[in-house]
Amino acid sequence: ASTLGAAAAQSGRYFGTAIAAGRLGDSNYTTIANREFNMVTPENEMKPDATEPNRGQFNFSSGDRVYNWAVQNGKRVRGHTLAWYAQQPGWMQQLSGSSLRQAMIDHINGVMAHYKGKIYAWDVVNEAFADGNSGGRRDSNLQRTGNDWIEVAFRTARNADPAAKLCYNDYNIENWTWAKTQGVYNMVKDFKQRGVPIDCVGFQSHFNSGSPYNSNFRTTLQNFAALGVDVQITELDIQGASPTTYAAVTNDCLAVPRCNGITTWGVRDQDSWRSGDTPLLFSGNNKKPAYDAVLNALNSG
Ligand code: G3I
Repeated sequence: ASTLGAAAAQSGRYFGTAIAAGRLGDSNYTTIANREFNMVTPENEMKPDATEPNRGQFNFSSGDRVYNWAVQNGKRVRGHTLAWYAQQPGWMQQLSGSSLRQAMIDHINGVMAHYKGKIYAWDVVNEAFADGNSGGRRDSNLQRTGNDWIEVAFRTARNADPAAKLCYNDYNIENWTWAKTQGVYNMVKDFKQRGVPIDCVGFQSHFNSGSPYNSNFRTTLQNFAALGVDVQITELDIQGASPTTYAAVTNDCLAVPRCNGITTWGVRDQDSWRSGDTPLLFSGNNKKPAYDAVLNALNSG
């Protein structure tokens, strides 16, 4: 196959990208995005600050622009994200306790109702674990409402849209030896044992010199899958875009039957949140060597 999406489809997987609503007017961008990818994650447009700017007042204009572009071009959509310590609207940042807990529940219900039956998978909870060696939860206003906030979010989400896969999404959980990875693993294990509805774990995979790719990523994917969840690579970018590393990540997903697909966090280097790292598969209109490495891995896998 000659595109990333078609090559991934040969093994029943998808290949996706983050899409920014503000770039949909750039035909060089949309030409590449439409040709190469068959899964779309709105980069910012479905986050709480975008979708509920005032309490109880939802705004889906930007989210719908990305959603409609994707679906009109035959792509599926990953929802990102419902409960997160960052990119909360100002009113939510001011809340705490039971009032914040209720606001989180209402937010999940409001957004998921709008997109009911239309989303492949939702990142229900994003980045709830702490960096460093504790393996514990990240401090946040959501965490301070009580340790059960994550399972409340997942139970609410299951009722709101039973058709969507419900995912936990985080970064620096790719290396099996890291405490953060073990913390998330233990949470998912506990959720599966207690029947808390969780279907998938998203591994953001923002690799750089501080958190480099390690070949034990495949072990991590296998161990999570063995708990009975799907796994997905959800925000892939690699500082410097080493073709070897991109191929290794691709092969790690291909080696795990429950790894459903890979999404890169943007189309071209100039679109990246870390554009100085030139971490993506395209530069301007051009395919980079990392693109060829990924396509070749998908075609051989
Ligand atoms: O839209 C405003 C614009 O009106 C304003 O003039 C401008 C001035 O700063 O800011 C614009 O908003 C920015 C937004 O991106 C849209 O470009 C925000 O400041 C900026 O903070 C925001 O950054 C996003 C970041 O999440 C925020 O946390 C990045 O685009 C986005 O790529 C990044 O994505 C996250 C994932 O959601 C979760 N995982 C990590 C990943 C990378 O940080």
